[in-house]
Amino acid sequence: KRVAVLISGRGSNMASLIEAAADPAYPAEIALVLANRHDAAGLQRAHAAGIATDVIDHKAFPDRPSFDAALDARLRAERIDLVCLAGFMRLLTPGFVEGWRDRMINIHPSLLPLFPGLHTHRRAIEAGMTLAGCTVHFVRAEMDSGPIIGQAVVPIAPGDSEDSLAARVLSAEHRLYPLALALVADGLARVEGERLVLDAQLP
Ligand code: GRF
Repeated sequence: KRVAVLISGRGSNMASLIEAAADPAYPAEIALVLANRHDAAGLQRAHAAGIATDVIDHKAFPDRPSFDAALDARLRAERIDLVCLAGFMRLLTPGFVEGWRDRMINIHPSLLPLFPGLHTHRRAIEAGMTLAGCTVHFVRAEMDSGPIIGQAVVPIAPGDSEDSLAARVLSAEHRLYPLALALVADGLARVEGERLVLDAQLP
């Protein structure tokens, strides 16, 4: 399966996918890394790993539909099978999302459906949670929603700051995302009637 990873920034999750896909036994190939900003640091990491990169700058388009159309055209020109959102900070239009239905996944740094949106770690600490985590899910038009493929849980320690918790969750993200993508690429995780069907033993 040919995978495109969409990023806006650091790209540490992208790097974890590239690393996993370097194994010849991995069921997906990272064919393209696309960013919506020229200054996304992950672009350099992808380039250093020998992955094709491109920037489609959202500011060059008058509205969301035209940006999404350019994104869509690029993905189709590259014969992309699966799209991974990895810290991609643009809301996608329902038309684009529908075009990639069940072929686009996202990682979110909370245990969805708790804490969709931004500042998840601060909100989890403020809510008095003792557990936090991350979620990989199929993308639907509503932000941070869609059938859940997998989640990983980490403890929240007394005295954790937003940053210390973010670091702990990020390590879990880097383990979870390659596993979840492999399940989808192998056809072992799929959607039936908006529920996840999993044909695999969990590790
Ligand atoms: C991650 O926490 C991811 O879950 C969220 O944005 C962050 C991106 O980090 N969607 P990185 O760019 O992958 O390092």
